[in-house]
Amino acid sequence: MNNIDGLDSWDGDRDQSVVLSEELRSRLAPPLKIGNFSVHSRVLQAPLSGVTDLVFRRLVRRYAPDSMTYTEMVQASGVHHARSLKKIMDVDPAERPVSIQLFDCRPDFLAEAAEMAVAQEADTIDINMGCPVNKITKNGGGSSLLRDPETAEAIVKTVVDAVHVPVTVKTRIGWDENEITILDFAQRMQDAGAAMITIHARTRSQGYKGAAQWEWIRKVKQQLTIPVIANGDITSIASAVACLEATEADGVMCSRATLGNPFLVGEIDYFLKTGKLKPKPTIAERLICAKEHLQSLYDYKGKRGIYQARKHMTWYAKGFPGSSELRGKLCRVDSVEEGHALIDSALASLA
Ligand SMILES: Cc1cc2nc3c(=O)[nH]c(=O)nc-3n(C[C@H](O)[C@H](O)[C@H](O)COP(=O)(O)O)c2cc1C
Repeated sequence: MNNIDGLDSWDGDRDQSVVLSEELRSRLAPPLKIGNFSVHSRVLQAPLSGVTDLVFRRLVRRYAPDSMTYTEMVQASGVHHARSLKKIMDVDPAERPVSIQLFDCRPDFLAEAAEMAVAQEADTIDINMGCPVNKITKNGGGSSLLRDPETAEAIVKTVVDAVHVPVTVKTRIGWDENEITILDFAQRMQDAGAAMITIHARTRSQGYKGAAQWEWIRKVKQQLTIPVIANGDITSIASAVACLEATEADGVMCSRATLGNPFLVGEIDYFLKTGKLKPKPTIAERLICAKEHLQSLYDYKGKRGIYQARKHMTWYAKGFPGSSELRGKLCRVDSVEEGHALIDSALASLA
């Protein structure tokens, strides 16, 4: 998969031949227990900044009613200084289970934001300890906490003391190839009170490039007693099954492969529960979803929603004759009507 774009084509071809072993089905049949909270799905929708807003999560929820979704990450110090909830912490009462993800390096600010997130009905609080972006790491947040495990421990302990919902951590395997510290770090997070850990199996210096190194997830899983969620390169049912078998993780989290593809989490969840494939959405169904996504973003965010919908629409519009030309037009769309007209004419040419 290339950097931070969606898939170039839909990666479902291998799914036709994937088989769910009885061993895997029965291992994953019980609910995922995150502390005192149960989730009836082993497939999670990752937090994706600029993507997993209320509108996107509603679409994911439609196809994956049991799965946990995550908000975009929210800066705790921003919440502190504004003394108010951020719009990205909006949660629809109908969309649970949902986790609100926070980032920062100050335990007190994180505890304060966590309390506000719980008032928003967050089922769990997730702390981001994996973001590689310089703006975040130079302030001591995201993946820089891998290099400051004492602060990471203090964060988990302080937030656990502040809220009654489970506190979880999402991180990477280490800072770079010479500093893969996840075994020690994950143990510290568990000992500090984290109820689950999600591991994006790349180093900070890998960014989003190169293969996810799932073997580290297996090592962590062998060591911890809390649930371990595997993240990185889950692009299809086949890759989810391969990852769950290779790592023995308690679940998988889908990320970039859900861009323009809010169906994926539900497809994997259904397969892990039944061993059967849901029919893949057709190109026309994807494009109809793109129209709905555009309309809903406009309804929720106004004009800003149109600008944000541009990238989403280009992610949906893939894999058919003329799709590249359509994407070129969709990324300049200025109104719902214009976007709908472009997609309608593509739909007409497919028919
Ligand atoms: C556009 C984009 C935004 C992201 N935003 C977040 C975020 O807010 N919080 C977070 O923990 N990870 C974030 N991530 C990382 C993903 O959740 C995930 O860990 C990573 O993409 C690896 O999974 P993949 O190989 O399946 O894409 C983001 C990734 C991308 C590409």
